[in-house]
Amino acid sequence: MERYKPIIDDWEAFREECQKDAVPAVRRNPLKARKSFEQALKKDFPEAEKSDWNSDVYRLPRSKSPGKSMLHWRGEYYVQEESASLPVEVLDPRPGEKVLDMCAAPGGKTTQIASKMDNRGLVVSNDDSSRRLKSLHANIYRTGSAIVDVTNYDGRRIPGTEKFDRVLVDAPCSGEGNNARRSFEASSSHEREHLAELQYQLLEKAFQIVKEGGVVVYSTCTFAPEENEAVVSKALDEKDVKLEDIDTDVESRRGVENFSGLEFGEEMSKTVRIYPHHLNSGGIFVARFRK
Ligand SMILES: C[S@@+](CC[C@H](N)C(=O)[O-])C[C@H]1O[C@@H](n2cnc3c(N)ncnc32)[C@H](O)[C@@H]1O
Repeated sequence: MERYKPIIDDWEAFREECQKDAVPAVRRNPLKARKSFEQALKKDFPEAEKSDWNSDVYRLPRSKSPGKSMLHWRGEYYVQEESASLPVEVLDPRPGEKVLDMCAAPGGKTTQIASKMDNRGLVVSNDDSSRRLKSLHANIYRTGSAIVDVTNYDGRRIPGTEKFDRVLVDAPCSGEGNNARRSFEASSSHEREHLAELQYQLLEKAFQIVKEGGVVVYSTCTFAPEENEAVVSKALDEKDVKLEDIDTDVESRRGVENFSGLEFGEEMSKTVRIYPHHLNSGGIFVARFRK
């Protein structure tokens, strides 16, 4: 991870946090949660604390396993790291819209999209891994996300016949934001190169199938600028899309304008990076485009 020292200003806090387990968190599911949800949650987890930027998210003590509670099985909450709830907040799906979640399994963001849409409209939840579709289906069912249709395409080959109001590309990535805790090792340049090409092609497809004026959100859970700002910057150079500023209260840093001899430009200050020490959670990168 030393390669990221020049872009992470509070390096010691970052390094220390990466040695710890993430703080477990749950996202209340308004489609299923009872009125007295918070009371019920506090019965199981008296120390649960509401996140200060997302009122549906609760942080739990590091020792707890929220996947074992009845509230999980009933779909009243979804177990999701706090930072992972940002991309859908940025996507901002509205009831009645048609939304594509291009890389969706196991469904954390799909179920969040359906709940934000109050189960009105359509969510197409796609993943190319048939193995991962089982957990995607199970999570959609458990959370009562009734407006979701599941498809099994390579995202790059989704037919262009349907047009969407919003598309989320929560891309396959080198996962350094999660792996840091296990190995504290950066990904290999070979892996980054291969992924950056795939990520760009997925994004190209998203621009093709979003309506004129529609929104595309690109997110990863890696620190590598090659998979983040470089992909976004190439899209700005080659496609007829604009980057929109992400206006959020969440503790974060802005995207980087350059790294290791690569130039990405000032526009990157519209994108957001969350590091593990910001929320005691996974690292992520988010960018929002308008076609
Ligand atoms: C970061 S994970 C998605 C996590 C998911 N959005 C969530 O919030 O639960 C990336 C997903 O991309 C899928 N994937 C990889 N290559 C793909 C491709 N070419 N087309 C569509 N999905 C792909 C993987 O199977 C994986 O499930």
